[in-house]
Amino acid sequence: MKILVTGSTGQLGSEIKVLSSAYPELEFVCPNSKELDICNQALLNDFVKDQGFQGIINCAGYTAVDKAEQNAGIAGLVNAKAVGHLVAVSQRYQLKLIHISTDYVFDGTSNRPYTERMPVCPLGAYGKTKRAGEMEIMYSPSNSIIIRTSWLYSTFGNNFVKTMLRLGEEKDSLSVVYDQIGTPTYARDLAQVCLDIISKQGRIDTKGKLYHYSNEGVTSWYDFAQAIMEMANIDCKLSPIESKDFPTAAKRPAYSVLNKAKIKADFCIEIPHWRESLAECIEKIKSD
Ligand SMILES: NC(=O)c1ccc[n+]([C@@H]2O[C@H](COP(=O)([O-])OP(=O)(O)OC[C@H]3O[C@@H](n4cnc5c(N)ncnc54)[C@H](OP(=O)(O)O)[C@@H]3O)[C@@H](O)[C@H]2O)c1
Repeated sequence: MKILVTGSTGQLGSEIKVLSSAYPELEFVCPNSKELDICNQALLNDFVKDQGFQGIINCAGYTAVDKAEQNAGIAGLVNAKAVGHLVAVSQRYQLKLIHISTDYVFDGTSNRPYTERMPVCPLGAYGKTKRAGEMEIMYSPSNSIIIRTSWLYSTFGNNFVKTMLRLGEEKDSLSVVYDQIGTPTYARDLAQVCLDIISKQGRIDTKGKLYHYSNEGVTSWYDFAQAIMEMANIDCKLSPIESKDFPTAAKRPAYSVLNKAKIKADFCIEIPHWRESLAECIEKIKSD
């Protein structure tokens, strides 16, 4: 089976490349954004045509949440319009498509973990464009699924874990928000799930197109940062602050814990607790 991985230089795409050797039955084609700009529909068609692909994992995205407030047009092209192009090409050549979305489609007013059936109401431009991307898939007859995830980090790219490790070494103290509650996701765990799902035979949308995936457990950014410092043996004093004291261009949901019962049941997967995966990631960062 030949799989196209778009956005392959990002956190998730890079983790898929790391794991690809464990799937000798799959052949991966992993272009960067210069080799394949998914916003260019003609280029995408030419890239896929006659290549014998059977699946696409779309790891590409405009992920700069705050910058998206100023650049909603570009964010919309990558996060929504290009998803429409991927859906069209998947339908045309009968490919499986896995697309990644976000917990930021929710407004955070729930007090229980979000299921796939709960209403969305994105607070910012990033979440709105990601929701528009979901809609491209939801009502198409393509053999595709959307996996919403949250608080992604990895040994690759820029993310909260790497920022905390750097700042923790540079500074004696830091303030971190404690009133945004969610669950971190190690991109390697999500990559594993994407590969397990796409390598399964037959149609992948067994009971609906939408799934939630993060690591297990619940935390705040402050507690997440505390765990990072402890696991990395960094002596940096952390102070909890409210979001109002750390203004950002984009408003974020105060609560975005995802309920993962559906993906666990449909694909028979076990999900590691966020602390277990964080320890693994920090170990890898330190050994690199
Ligand atoms: N990061 C998070 O906390 C988070 C949370 C929830 C959901 N997600 C979703 O998870 C997915 C993966 O996120 P990530 O953190 O791995 O992303 P990332 O590290 O920011 O990487 C994004 C990738 O998309 C590529 N890309 C951007 N525009 C493109 C285009 N027009 N054509 C082709 N490739 C393009 C980028 O290439 P260049 O670098 O060359 O532009 C990069 O390789 C995204 O859909 C994101 O929305 C992320």
